[in-house]
Amino acid sequence: MFRQLFDEQSSTLTYLLADAQSGDAVLIDTVAEHSAMYLGLLRELDLNLVYLLETHAHADHVTGAGVLREHTNARTATGHRTGVMCADVLLADGDTLVFGDEVLRVIATPGHTPGCVSYRWRNCLFTGDALLIGGCGRTDFQGGDAGALYDSITQRLFTLPDETLVYPAHDYKGMRVSSIAQEKLTNARVPGRSRQAFIDLMQSLDLPRPRLIDQAVPANLRCGLPAGPLDIHAS
Ligand SMILES: [Fe+2]
Repeated sequence: MFRQLFDEQSSTLTYLLADAQSGDAVLIDTVAEHSAMYLGLLRELDLNLVYLLETHAHADHVTGAGVLREHTNARTATGHRTGVMCADVLLADGDTLVFGDEVLRVIATPGHTPGCVSYRWRNCLFTGDALLIGGCGRTDFQGGDAGALYDSITQRLFTLPDETLVYPAHDYKGMRVSSIAQEKLTNARVPGRSRQAFIDLMQSLDLPRPRLIDQAVPANLRCGLPAGPLDIHAS
């Protein structure tokens, strides 16, 4: 079972995957504002949410993971290098997550941020902001590293079978799915560019600062929940 959901405000793509037999489900990259909608969908489809997954600590929206964890049996999981210490499960490259009879594999894809991971399920690849349709995530904040991103894309993602479907965390042009073959051929940033040429390109982008970064990143390090007494004490 598969659903792709879209947040208009941040152009975030959220994914619901489920094992039809057991009803066990996972959500990837939720948006806090849509938490009630996700819960309604889970009820409607009679699913039992087991994991709330993040591809990374987002800078453009607040995750729904913390709120959704309070309303479900799900555990939150994210890459171990994200700095998201509120997560129940910290994932490393090669880890597997099981929901019902389905298996999802973790691929470390650092570069956009050091903690970015992609998730592979059947012939689908959820790339977060590492590989976008026709592009890639920026590398100019949150510990971004263009060389690492080039290596993640060319050595980890582009080595997967051509027919693998690519589902990113965002699309700003109305696109919803691509494939490894298509990205190897038509991605505007990677094919035909050396590692150094890619680094030079990424350094020259001069992109505006994300509007919500100062709210979103600290909130996402708390799984999207409001600051508590501990945070105030720590600051
Ligand atoms: Fe991002």
